[in-house]
Amino acid sequence: MEDEFLERAEQALRKSEERFRRAVEYAPYAILMTNEAGRIEMVNAQAERLFGYDRSELLGQQVEVLVPQPLRVGHSAMRAGFFHEPQSRPMGAGRDLFGLRKDGGTFPVEIGLNPIETEEGMVVLAAVIDISDRKREEERIRDALKEKDLLLGEIHHRVKNNLQIIHSLLSLQTASVRDEVALGMLRESQNRVLSMALIHRTLYQSNDFAKVDFATFLDSLVPTLIGSYGIDSSRFAVSVDADDARLPINAAVPCGLIVNELISNTLKHGFPQGRGGKIDIRLANGKDGGAVLSVSDDGVGLPDNLDIDNSTTLGLQLVTLLADQIGGKLTIRRRDPTRFEIHFPMET
Ligand SMILES: Nc1ncnc2c1ncn2[C@@H]1O[C@H](COP(=O)(O)OP(=O)(O)O)[C@@H](O)[C@H]1O
Ligand SMILES: [Mg+2]
Repeated sequence: MEDEFLERAEQALRKSEERFRRAVEYAPYAILMTNEAGRIEMVNAQAERLFGYDRSELLGQQVEVLVPQPLRVGHSAMRAGFFHEPQSRPMGAGRDLFGLRKDGGTFPVEIGLNPIETEEGMVVLAAVIDISDRKREEERIRDALKEKDLLLGEIHHRVKNNLQIIHSLLSLQTASVRDEVALGMLRESQNRVLSMALIHRTLYQSNDFAKVDFATFLDSLVPTLIGSYGIDSSRFAVSVDADDARLPINAAVPCGLIVNELISNTLKHGFPQGRGGKIDIRLANGKDGGAVLSVSDDGVGLPDNLDIDNSTTLGLQLVTLLADQIGGKLTIRRRDPTRFEIHFPMET
């Protein structure tokens, strides 16, 4: 009776041991067990396949035969470190690890380490996964991204060049125009084209093609506009404050055109008869996650008879239209100082 019970228990134990052996043997990743001296004590089928050795060739060998030469010295030192402070962890966190096959080939791996207490002392169980496919895929995505970046840069570059050609064409046309009003119109059209070209130049030169560094854009726009109206720049104290504002491309072109109109108006109308004064250009992040763009001057102020909402002139019509296009709200202060301010939402 008792014998039969013992036998049954032994059978059950054997069965469960066999099940574990099989689980290890046919695991989808390579499993190696090494002792503290670095000798391989057990490997599974996938380890044979992955490293290209027969089991008999690996058992009793130093585990370093599976490590490419340049990493071997480091490996034995790390192994000593692991046994000094044994805990389950991924091997070589943050470093690229490689395995060495019998035929001399190397391949990228990921390795998990588990210390196991046995009667013969501490051993370490290493699970090794070949990550060649993943690495290849990562590289493919990286290459595709680089290509996309190059392409985007190229597109911004070409848009900028084409706009510069339009600018030059308009410039050539001014040569044969005598009428002052027509000349003024041509000049303003040129500036509009130029401010768009500058936005694209800023994008082409930046390392993030999704956002325009508006401060850089303003730094080139303001002197260009002053030059275009033939104004002595020493008459004005211009302050630009747009340091931490980066605009997504869909808002950047409208904002660039708005600012172009507002600065042009300030220069053209704000300070007649050689007067001087202050011009403030700001782009700041608003409290609601949006942004605030404003241009102010302490010049003569907007004429009292100017009906802003029913403006018949192109400049203010453009400002209203573009503000609307970016979902912005325009507020205007007529004088002391004159200020145009646009609050608009920003999707990033
Ligand atoms: N900053 C300013 N200071 C004084 N007047 C301004 C200012 N901005 C606009 N104005 C007035 O608003 C008018 C309309 O401007 P706008 O629509 O840009 O047309 P334009 O500049 O061609 O005259 C201007 O003619 C000018 O009288
Ligand atoms: Mg104008």
